[in-house]
Amino acid sequence: MHIFNNGKYKSLHAAAAGELTQIESAVKKDKDFRPHYHLTTPTGLLNDPNGLIWDGEKYHVFYQWFPFDAIHGMKHWKHYTTQDFIHFTPAQDLIPDELFESHGCYSGGALLVGDNIACFYTGNTRRPSDNQRVPFQNLAIFDKNGKLLSKRPLIENAPQGYTEHFRDPKPYFTAEGKIRFVCGAQRENLTGTAVIFEMDNLEDTPRVIGELALPAFDNRNVFMWECPDLLKIKDNDVFIWSPQGKTREPHQFQNNYHATYAIGQLEGQTLNSTYIAELDQGFDFYAPQTVANVADRTILLAWIGQPDLTYPTDEYKWHSMLTMPRELRIEQGKIYQQPAREIYQNLTALQAVQVENTAEIAQLDRAYIQFDAQQQPFKLDFFHNEKGETLTLSYDGKLLCLDRAKTEQTDWMEKFDSQRYCEIEQLEQVEIFFDRSVCEIFLNRGEKAMTSRFFIRDRQNVVKSDRALRLEIAQPKAIEIK
Ligand code: FRU
Repeated sequence: MHIFNNGKYKSLHAAAAGELTQIESAVKKDKDFRPHYHLTTPTGLLNDPNGLIWDGEKYHVFYQWFPFDAIHGMKHWKHYTTQDFIHFTPAQDLIPDELFESHGCYSGGALLVGDNIACFYTGNTRRPSDNQRVPFQNLAIFDKNGKLLSKRPLIENAPQGYTEHFRDPKPYFTAEGKIRFVCGAQRENLTGTAVIFEMDNLEDTPRVIGELALPAFDNRNVFMWECPDLLKIKDNDVFIWSPQGKTREPHQFQNNYHATYAIGQLEGQTLNSTYIAELDQGFDFYAPQTVANVADRTILLAWIGQPDLTYPTDEYKWHSMLTMPRELRIEQGKIYQQPAREIYQNLTALQAVQVENTAEIAQLDRAYIQFDAQQQPFKLDFFHNEKGETLTLSYDGKLLCLDRAKTEQTDWMEKFDSQRYCEIEQLEQVEIFFDRSVCEIFLNRGEKAMTSRFFIRDRQNVVKSDRALRLEIAQPKAIEIK
């Protein structure tokens, strides 16, 4: 075992006595922004969900974690188990302590093999002689109780033809029972792609099968594909991934980086897609992953964040959270997404509030709100404080706009504009889940989704509407960790 302690590449094994407690006390100073029902980090920075899997009795949820600060330092896999996405139990984390992960355990997915959970992940390393990044693809085996049994490297370095940006293995079984995993990659000509590997069993050495071809995707300017996920929803083959470099457009792909999906039929390694779109059009959504080994539904979690972005909570030494689990379904050839049934089943009873102009709503900042827009324009200002800060959601009959210009933003947040748009005709049902510094918005039963952070300190729980609206309001159940 190695105890890495090299600047920001420091592992939990190197924590000084009392160090984490001290960081926790910085987190506790945050009185405004910590969520109630979104899974967030106890300290430091959270990013991608990893190793999501149902083991037959419970889900395992891991996420990318740097424990010591709100920066992208040495990545660990924080690990919890849960049966309902509300009660979480801590399990053994994946801590970098081998040379094949010397600069962090980067993202990956899991597969249930026999009684064990096989986690495929990228070992981020740097060659000591010239500091050159060398990616390993590794395998960590956990038992169902969440105990780490072993880990080993599978592949050292990217195959020929690819740069050192080669990562995020997501495994799956073929119909013949072979193990495959798909990695995000950058070709030597600096374009993004994904590469598939195959193994007969976990003891085998992975062989390259080839690239996943996606002819209908406009890959212009795209320099890297991160977090690929190849899955089936009913009879459809679906590819979800995070391409980097795609040109921003006025009403979609508005962020610096995007999470995208393609639906179609896989023939060999070619996905002939009938539809490609951004998965979520909010300010903060990236690196989604679906839960493996779930028979009857497709559940997805994502990082409510973006690479490179800073947030006002960084001063309290915590950064980011995961989305609620979402169930995906296909309607009219597109992905629809809404929070998983466990979230709805645990809501308190809905209460109607008629808003004529301004209304105070108890616990608005941790509420579920639903209303019928009746295909008519509206403008809603949520929350208010002495600085005049407020979060605005408006609809003009065609375009929904979430505007955080009048909220607290870091320079990095402002850099990518303060409005996000979503084209939607015939807007009827609007659902908003507020949780202190995050909102997840779903339109027309999940036809479109917008997930965003927003920061309003010392806020009053008020809503102001430019027309009469009947809001139905409930409280989602807070997460418990024990
Ligand atoms: C995506 C990502 C992955 C990588 C991980 C590192 O957000 O950059 O490609 O494995 O984060 O934390």
